Order: sequence, then C-alpha cells, then structure tokens
Amino acid sequence: MAGKEVAKQSLKVVMFLGSARENRVCTRVSKFVHEQLTRSGHDVTVIDPLEMDLPVLRQSMMFVKDWTTLPETMVKANETLVNSDTIVVISPEYNHSIPPALSNLIDHFPISSYKYKVSGIVCYSPGPYGGMRAAMQLRCLLSEIGTISVPHIFGIPHVTKALDEDGKPLNEHMESGARKLITQLGWYSEALKAKKEKDGVPS
Ligand SMILES: Cc1cc2nc3c(=O)[nH]c(=O)nc-3n(C[C@H](O)[C@H](O)[C@H](O)COP(=O)(O)O)c2cc1C
Repeated sequence: MAGKEVAKQSLKVVMFLGSARENRVCTRVSKFVHEQLTRSGHDVTVIDPLEMDLPVLRQSMMFVKDWTTLPETMVKANETLVNSDTIVVISPEYNHSIPPALSNLIDHFPISSYKYKVSGIVCYSPGPYGGMRAAMQLRCLLSEIGTISVPHIFGIPHVTKALDEDGKPLNEHMESGARKLITQLGWYSEALKAKKEKDGVPS
C-alpha cells in the first residue's frame, strides 16, 4: 500500500502540536501536514498547547466532575477529539524523549476521548535522526491511551532544510512521506470506523 491513495472517506482528524516554544519549528511542520491532509480530502482541527496556554497539569478532565468549571476551549477541544476519527501528533524530540508540552496536552483530556481511534506520528529535528527517539516513546503513549498507532512514522530529519517557514516542502521526500502516512491513516481509520458502526466499542 506504500504511496497508493486508498482512502475513500473524508476523516475528521485532530492534530496535536508538540511544542509551545518561542519561534517553534512545529508551526511549519503542522502547516505542511495540515495542507497534505486537507488536499487528501480530510477535515483537520488543530489542538495547540500554545493557543490553549495550558498550565502544567493541575488536573486531568477525567477527574473533574463539573466541566462548567473548565475553560471553554478545553471542553470544545475535547468535543472535537471525541468526534474525531484520527489523531496526528506533530512532535519534536527533547532530550531524546517526548516534549513536555505534548504529554501535558495529551494528559489534560480523558483517556476515554482517545480510545478506539487511529493515531499517526510526525516527528522532526534539525539533526539527522528526525526525532525518531521521541517517536518510539510516543508510540507507547499513544497505545497506552487506547489508540492504534499506524506503522509508518513520518520522520523529518534536517527539518529546517526540508520545509520553509510557510511549510512549503524543499525536497521530494516530504510529499511522499506524508502520503504514505495519510494512506495508512485512511486505511486503518476506515476499518475501525466500519467496526465501530457495526458493533460499537467495548466499555
Ligand atoms: C529542551 C530541548 C531538548 C532538545 N533535545 C533534542 C534532542 O534530544 N534531539 C534533537 O534532535 N534535538 C533536540 N533539541 C533541539 C530541537 O530538535 C529543536 O530545538 C527543534 O526546533 C525543536 O522543535 P520546536 O522548535 O518545534 O520546539 C532540543 C531542544 C530543546 C529545547
């Protein structure tokens, strides 16, 4: 299935950004992936730790009884997450592991909001390894919260030479890498959707 577009349905994709750093590179990577997903016919909503301006976790939504006490942005983001088919994380690598902005963001939402969805990993680095060490840890986290992480990890080494500031690709590997991930997301998401529609999900 490498590179072959097999998705028939438009998916509701939630994109989690993994950096809240000043002048983050994450912005250009997310613009590129957003454009590629949209071009493939999918509907994308971005959940951005910078825009949400989250504190270090004080409490996960799953332990808050009265959601009227929570910021509206958080409740809305959770609603979008619940209604989505697919989750894509856009992640750098900090100290060879998952950036705190991303795990902090993920931990704010209830685990039940993620369960039985498909997830994809886009990782990047200005160096030669493309954030792959964080991606390996992300795969465990994405599995732990109940998502199916598709096999292809779209790693972007030398990211500042691969994408310009507007997210325009600067080499021929970018579109093929994105296409492979999007194809797998489509295939797995459609399979899971069909099963959920037929049998629901176990509690
Ligand atoms: C705390 C910290 C730790 C980092 N550790 C790594 C690392 O382990 N491997 C790596 O390739 N880059 C590392 N970097 C460099 C980042 O890959 C680079 O700053 C990148 O632009 C981060 O993405 P962002 O700009 O979207 O936050 C680190 C950066 C920071 C701030």
